[in-house]
Order: sequence, then structure tokens, then C-alpha cells
Amino acid sequence: MRKVAVIGAGTMGHGLAMVFAQGGYQVGLHDLSQGILDKARSLINSNLDTLIEANMFDAAQRETVANERIRYTTDLAEAAVDAEFVVEAIVEEVEAKKELFNELDRLAPSRAILASNTSYLDIFKFVKTSRPDKVLITHWFAPPHIVPLVEIVAGPQTSQETIDTVERTHNQLGKTTIVLKKFLPGFVGNRMQAALGLEIYRLLDEGFATPEDLDKAAKAGFGLRLPILGVVKRLDFAGLDLAQRVLANRSYQPPEVRGRSKVIDDLNLQGRRGVKDGAGFYDYGDRSSEEIMRERDLKLLKLRKFLQDMGELD
Ligand SMILES: NC(=O)c1ccc[n+]([C@@H]2O[C@H](COP(=O)([O-])OP(=O)(O)OC[C@H]3O[C@@H](n4cnc5c(N)ncnc54)[C@H](O)[C@@H]3O)[C@@H](O)[C@H]2O)c1
Repeated sequence: MRKVAVIGAGTMGHGLAMVFAQGGYQVGLHDLSQGILDKARSLINSNLDTLIEANMFDAAQRETVANERIRYTTDLAEAAVDAEFVVEAIVEEVEAKKELFNELDRLAPSRAILASNTSYLDIFKFVKTSRPDKVLITHWFAPPHIVPLVEIVAGPQTSQETIDTVERTHNQLGKTTIVLKKFLPGFVGNRMQAALGLEIYRLLDEGFATPEDLDKAAKAGFGLRLPILGVVKRLDFAGLDLAQRVLANRSYQPPEVRGRSKVIDDLNLQGRRGVKDGAGFYDYGDRSSEEIMRERDLKLLKLRKFLQDMGELD
């Protein structure tokens, strides 16, 4: 494969396009308006600047990756017409994705693999194409140019050849992959995060702990072990006899799924929606969201490099 198309140039799409371009692919990046594509180009340039600052990218390659390898287009046909792999990262809505796959099946070469970056939708139930053996989910994590995991999820008709090709392609891009042969909403990573999220909202809404305390408990507690032990190896270290006793004593009751959080509702009402407003649970001062993200990205890149050097990450 040498040519790919990325459909949707938002939070995820611009990062996916950048990673494929860094890997040497010609990329057609499509979105609905020129304004969104201009923003994507500027985000790709600032992401590359951050990588250059972290000594992880050669400044001489910047122009090639950001402007020569990526074709920014509002014409879906132009992006898809010669692609061997197409991945969509458009809005998370059934009708929009259904319609898009319809179009892609018509526009992309018949040998092309069609992938979705959906987080929760069972595309295999509603996407209809002439090539169900070449349709699957590739689920990336934000920020996609830094976090290595891509979950590959096969549908009932996805061929092994498609899974193998997609896994090999993503591994060559430096991505860490896991393969799920069956669809499950949220796959693996988001399900674990969602379970933790329910507990976080309960602890905050019921006033058990402050946001600062929760972050301290996570970062100075189980969070420190996570990069080394993951979530399962930790059980071996704790002892599986203890794990069984903890299960048997049933004192832990998971929070009820209420579909709301009072604390989150209040912050949203105050216009504190997080980094994009300069404030959420925390205050970020007068810095732009780009600056705040850059600081986070530099730290994440440092940590990723450190873990790779220790042999804990591919
Ligand atoms: N944001 C995340 O952290 C994250 C992580 C993993 C997966 N995802 C999934 O990736 C997908 C995209 O999420 P996002 O956060 O990048 O969304 P986003 O809203 O930032 O970007 C979506 C982009 O798609 C464009 N778009 C909408 N309909 C389109 C169409 N028919 N054709 C072309 N472009 C279209 C929009 O204009 C927008 O620029 C969703 O399915 C989401 O569930 C998101």
C-alpha cells in the first residue's frame, strides 16, 4: 500500500493523516469545508514542530510531510479514487457513517480496504458494501500522533487477509495493535476507561474527594504502576489467591449508570468546558489551548521514549 485516504480532518483525522504521511504514504485528506482543512494543515504543522522540538522528527522533512504528501481536498472522490486503504474519522453518527461507506464503496478502488475509527458504533450492522471482507474498525487514541495503540476490530465477514494487512501496515507506522475478532462497544481501552469514569463521577458528585485528590491518587498510586504492570500482570504481583478473596468478599459495588454528573453539568454551565475554555476542573491561565496541548504533548513524548527505552512499549 502506498496511498491512503483519511475522511474527516477533525481531532482524530488530521493526526491519522499526519502519521500516514510520516510513514511515507501519499494521503488524501477530506473534510466538508476548506476552513476545516486549513485548520487541519495548521495543526499538523504545529504537531510536527512539537516533534522537532522533542528531537523526534527531522525539520528538513516538515514540508514534505505536511504539504507534499498530504492532499487536502473537499472532494471525496479526489481523496478516495486511487486509495488502497481508506479510514474514516467523521462524526460519530450512524446515518453519516452509513452514507459515507455507501459513497466510498462506489468511489474507492474495489481492492481498497475501508476502515472506521468509530469508538462505539457497530458499523458491521449498518454499513452495506460490495466488499464486506475488506471492512473493519481501526480505533486510534488521542492524540493519535503520540499514543501508540490502535485497536483493530473485525466484523463477521472481515477476512483474515484484511486483518493481517491492516495490522502489518499499522505496525510499520510504529503503532501498537491489538485485534478483536468480535465487535464489543468501546472495545477494550474505552471500556476500562468508562468503568473508571463512572467511579470518578460518583466520587466527585457525592463529595468523597476533590478533583485534585483523585488525580493525586491516580498519579501517585495505581497510575505509577500502569506503564510497567498494565492491568493484568499487576494481579500476578498482588497474588491470585488475594484476587479471588477480593472478588469473593463483594464489598465493592459499582456505581449506578445515571447518564449524568452534577459536577460536570455545573462546570459546563459556568463555561468551564476544559482546556478549550482555559478552565475546567483546573484553571489554565491566559495560555492558548495550543500552548497547553504542546506542553502535554512534549511530556507524553518524553514518557513514551523513556518507556520504549525501558522495553515497556514497542
Ligand atoms: N476524539 C477522540 O478522542 C476519539 C478517539 C478515538 C476515536 N474517535 C472517533 O473518531 C471519529 C471522529 O472523532 P473526532 O473527535 O475527530 O471528531 P471531530 O468532530 O473533531 O471531527 C470530525 C470531522 O468530520 C467531519 N465530517 C463530518 N461529516 C463528514 C462527512 N460526511 N464527510 C467528511 N467529513 C465529515 C467534520 O467536519 C469534522 O471536521 C468518531 O467516530 C469518534 O468516535 C474519537
